[in-house]
Amino acid sequence: MNNLLLAESLAPLLPIPKEEIAAMLEYPPNDALGDVALPCFVLARTMKQSPAVIAQQLAERLSHPGFRAEAAGPYLNFKLNRPSFAEELLLGAVTEDGFWRPNAGEGKRVVIDMSSPNVAKPFGIGHLRSTMIGNAISRILGETGHETVNVNHLGDWGTQFGKMITAYLKWGSPDVMASSDNVTKEYLALYVKFHEEAEKRPELEDEAREWFRKLESGDAQATKLWQEMIGESLKQFNKLYARLGVTFDHVLGESFYNDKMGAVIESLREQGLLEESEGALVVRLDEEGMPPCLLVKSDGTSIYATRDLATAIYRREQMDADILLYVVGGEQALHFQQVFRVLEKLDASWQGRCRHIPFGLMMMEGQKMSTRRGKVLFLEDVLNEAVSRAREVIEAKNPTLADKEAVAEAVGIGAVVFGDLKNTRTLDVDFSLKEVLNFDGETGPYLQYTYARTCSILRKAGAAIGQAEGAAPAYFELADNEYVWPLLKLISHYPTRLQQAAARYEPSILARYLLELAQAFNRFYHHVKVLDGGAAEQVFKLSLVRAASEAIRKGLSLLGIRALEEL
Ligand code: ARG
Repeated sequence: MNNLLLAESLAPLLPIPKEEIAAMLEYPPNDALGDVALPCFVLARTMKQSPAVIAQQLAERLSHPGFRAEAAGPYLNFKLNRPSFAEELLLGAVTEDGFWRPNAGEGKRVVIDMSSPNVAKPFGIGHLRSTMIGNAISRILGETGHETVNVNHLGDWGTQFGKMITAYLKWGSPDVMASSDNVTKEYLALYVKFHEEAEKRPELEDEAREWFRKLESGDAQATKLWQEMIGESLKQFNKLYARLGVTFDHVLGESFYNDKMGAVIESLREQGLLEESEGALVVRLDEEGMPPCLLVKSDGTSIYATRDLATAIYRREQMDADILLYVVGGEQALHFQQVFRVLEKLDASWQGRCRHIPFGLMMMEGQKMSTRRGKVLFLEDVLNEAVSRAREVIEAKNPTLADKEAVAEAVGIGAVVFGDLKNTRTLDVDFSLKEVLNFDGETGPYLQYTYARTCSILRKAGAAIGQAEGAAPAYFELADNEYVWPLLKLISHYPTRLQQAAARYEPSILARYLLELAQAFNRFYHHVKVLDGGAAEQVFKLSLVRAASEAIRKGLSLLGIRALEEL
């Protein structure tokens, strides 16, 4: 008895379609109240009766072998017939693709701006958030019937390249770059040195401006140095992406849009949206209570916002985007509001197409980061540290495990990724490696460990399953067991939670669901001996373990975390 079937039996009694009824159904926090509930508040207006009266009347009129309906104040509570629920779920629903991949997106094409680190700068923890939240959103949307396009909008343009070229020519050395294990560290050192020296010798700033001007006008030496920085940085970034298991459909730097901004400025001018302000060109956003959007500086150069306008138009026209998502830190909220608003002024059909998906700051063990002073946590170092700690735990827990190195890599990185994704994305996160690696906490390793446990049960059951399945039909009466029912119910929630995560662009909904599921599974595992009992009981329990295993495996993969069969 899934929600749509429940809604179907309610539909003849209510003035709204069954899809809407299904969306109104809730899960009461406490099993004693019922397994599913219909809050009747919203119905009161259309039905011109109090919610409690509606609930009472519905309870009297409903009669169905799959459930019992009872009114409790403004709620209509359903107590499901658990054995038949279990049968429908385990023999029916979970064997169908539509359960695991509910089609909510109707094939809409979503272009996701994600990761987007800055060239010649460190790939820090903030970019990890954009990368992994973006990756999870992309996978979740892909699984729910959207077409996704992952775009890495590399920060490869701007006045800082003038500074970097100046610094590189004065203090840099190709040998140091070539022998470095992480060139972004050398670039950062140059960047910091530039700022230190420029405080003493302000003329360095003029030199930097001159180098950027040369770069903008296509000077050969400037272009060569700049391209080298992009190439070297990308090598470093690609190492990280490989470890994180993240791929992109397009890696297009901001510079790609240099020749596409003129047209945008032209259309803004034609529509009379461009105004002069102290020598610069801006679009006024007074009516929307926002500061003006600066597009062309007084020296004629474009800025970040100009490039984002050209980028959005390119994504819509050339990449066929129906929806444009920007997975970027919350500190850029105003920038995106301005850019989106300018697009809407340009053409009303932009309304509702673009969406900033912000996330909070991440601190590592209380440490904040600032690039200028060079106090930065490099993601690579964080991953290495997590993997080395994971290696120690695995060595202590399971010294005979095969392929320990690969397992440590998967567990260490999974811990960092899950430690990020389990948090509501807009919140700031203070990250502790010790916490995220705790195998008994609300962590990635805990989920990986639980998944490995399901695999080990299924392996042990091996031949027995086949025999038992041939010998006896599953004993669904076990659905009433106090450790079985919560697990069954949670498994049945998989599609709903996945759709919620997709609709709110919120991977933490899926992450927290997986924790609940793993906890319910482990309680079941500790209290109900899976491989005991007669054949019929075993068949039932194994089909339950199989479904739980499948849900955890799929969920982890949607979060970009590797599921290991042995741990
Ligand atoms: N490179 C920028 C940064 O690190 C993020 C770019 C986000 N994407 C965009 N289309 N503006 O802050």
